[in-house]
Amino acid sequence: MCGIFAYLNYLVERDRKFILETLLTGLSRLEYRGYDSAGLAVDGDNEDETFIFRQVGKVAALREKIDAEKGLDVERTFVSHGGMAHTRWATHGIPSVRNCHPHRSDPKNEFTVVHNGIITNYKELRTILEKFGFEFESDTDTEAVAKLCKYIYDTQKTTMGSTLTFTGLVKAVCKELDGAFALIFKSAHFPGELVAARRGSPLLIGVKTAKKLKVDFVDVDVEVPQEDEKNLMLPDQPKIRRTQSRSFFGEEGVPMPVEYILASDASAIIEHTKKVLYLEDDDIAHISDGDLHIHRLRRDDRMSSVRPIQTLEQELAQIQKGAFSHFMLKEIFEQSESVVNTMRGRINFDDRTVILGGLRSQLANIRRSRRLIFIACGTSYHSCVATRSLFAELTELPVSVELASTFLDEQMPVFRDDCCIYVSQSGETKDTLLALQYCKDRGALCLGVTNTVGSTISRETHCGVHINAGPEISVASTKAYTSQYIALTMIALQLSDDNYAKLPRRHELIDGLFNLSADIKKTLALEPELRKMAQEQFGSAQNLILIGRGYQTATVLEGALKIKEVSYIHAEGINAGELKHGPLALIDDKMPIILVMPKDRHYSDSENALKQVTARYGAPIVICNDDDNTPLFNNLKTIRVPRTVDALQAIINIVPLQILSYYLATGRGFDPDSPRNLAKSVTTA
Ligand code: F6R
Repeated sequence: MCGIFAYLNYLVERDRKFILETLLTGLSRLEYRGYDSAGLAVDGDNEDETFIFRQVGKVAALREKIDAEKGLDVERTFVSHGGMAHTRWATHGIPSVRNCHPHRSDPKNEFTVVHNGIITNYKELRTILEKFGFEFESDTDTEAVAKLCKYIYDTQKTTMGSTLTFTGLVKAVCKELDGAFALIFKSAHFPGELVAARRGSPLLIGVKTAKKLKVDFVDVDVEVPQEDEKNLMLPDQPKIRRTQSRSFFGEEGVPMPVEYILASDASAIIEHTKKVLYLEDDDIAHISDGDLHIHRLRRDDRMSSVRPIQTLEQELAQIQKGAFSHFMLKEIFEQSESVVNTMRGRINFDDRTVILGGLRSQLANIRRSRRLIFIACGTSYHSCVATRSLFAELTELPVSVELASTFLDEQMPVFRDDCCIYVSQSGETKDTLLALQYCKDRGALCLGVTNTVGSTISRETHCGVHINAGPEISVASTKAYTSQYIALTMIALQLSDDNYAKLPRRHELIDGLFNLSADIKKTLALEPELRKMAQEQFGSAQNLILIGRGYQTATVLEGALKIKEVSYIHAEGINAGELKHGPLALIDDKMPIILVMPKDRHYSDSENALKQVTARYGAPIVICNDDDNTPLFNNLKTIRVPRTVDALQAIINIVPLQILSYYLATGRGFDPDSPRNLAKSVTTA
């Protein structure tokens, strides 16, 4: 949901070509977050000059536009320079050049801003600023932020006779904003400086120095006067009193060459440095003279006054496509390995035990909960649907699975003795975060299951489990789904390890998990067959019905989601038990159907569904177990997958549907990594 990126070099000589390349590469790493348009801002040829480049479409289109720019001196060098960039997923205003970021305060580009999130009071701000004579160029919420910078800066100058510091200005601006934001500000008045602010949208800062970092944290300036009222009309200089100020690199007081990389997520930073710090809500980070200072927008005694410098664990290779033509295919094929990474160090297959370190501190409290509430969106929601009955079976607790948006709409009752489990690949999904806040406010115990270390959900929950699937770049989630499924299964196993009666079932599941990687490998080997099937069976399909029951309800919901989001075929996942209550009316000899029917306790019910469908001349393709020789399938096409434990079978069964959806997309000429209208990380509600 928009990616923002910035690069600042201090005492490191870089030419404009290098700076542009760094910004464009950073953007391309974040492109999965939005690809309606892209833009960047760099220093101009004269002091106080900022060049802005913007283009509709992907980052490649922006690159072409910049390459075609006649007269741009790319050899020009800068010893100290701050540049920033943006890739957009349109929320306010259609994808067009005028709606591209960076947005500017005025035709001279005095202040430029890139933004991820939504400013909910932008209309009010716009009305006020228009009254003060500002002319808006776009339909976006962000432009109001850029104009507000200039308004406050100029007003301070004329009314008080002094100028604000860059931090002071951004503080005054942020106080006027409602909604969610990660913002980066650049100004011709403050060359070589950048300011970043965060509330509700992710932002992290990478630090690259030739020398070893001297200390591994940054102190936060906590002594901020309590100025909660908005003061758009009369800004005054915020009186920041620095309590401690510590240079965290080099010798105290000796300027040292340094580069900073700011980005919406780590995938754009990892090729520069592994040393990062995550900004918290209401942090304002100011980089000037090579120093990074973090200020608070308002005092919050619960907030730590240090931001530790953390070391990223991912590798550059993990975020590159390698030999695969798309990230989606690469990530599908990674699953035989990613599932092992999810279990690594947590399951001891010799003594069949599960230990999740991230739950240790709260284990007794979770077990004491009176119910478990799963809250998630999209694919992550499906992983909860997939494991719900196993949780109920192993923990013997009431379990409910909620879509985060619905949960908030309905203002569900939540109590102190509830345990709420938030599942999110990104850890930044706005609806899920809002639900988390809602439950925290009501005193519930909150457990996070995310793929992104350092994400808001992993930081804001009381305990949790990282799924360790590795970075997922493709917008369509694949390996995160299977790893979420396993992480949730492990949680259910851990919670029930004090229940002796469940021992045989637990052992069966752990043995199934042991064989999972090999089973997935066998399923991945069906790729050529599935590619052919996508072309021959569904080449011209406009609709597709997927039917499944029990554990496979989640498989058909998730399979349908994958198909529609990347191939734009209308696909519907239907619980086989519901068929006769309506959807059967859709079945005829032309309707493409996939039936998921493994050998489990729902087999005979699925058999009934199959008969109901074939009696209406439907000819489903059946995903079944490789040892199922029933004559029922004699005249039907089958996709035969290895058989595993019933509660794990859906992990195997989703794989052919992921591969099918990939080839349905590429067969129609669509890029599955960048489906239209979507973005990877949905940081707006
Ligand atoms: C579908 C997909 C989305 C996400 C959903 C939640 O392929 O990726 O449905 O699952 O937006 O995102 P996270 O898991 O990041 O909370």
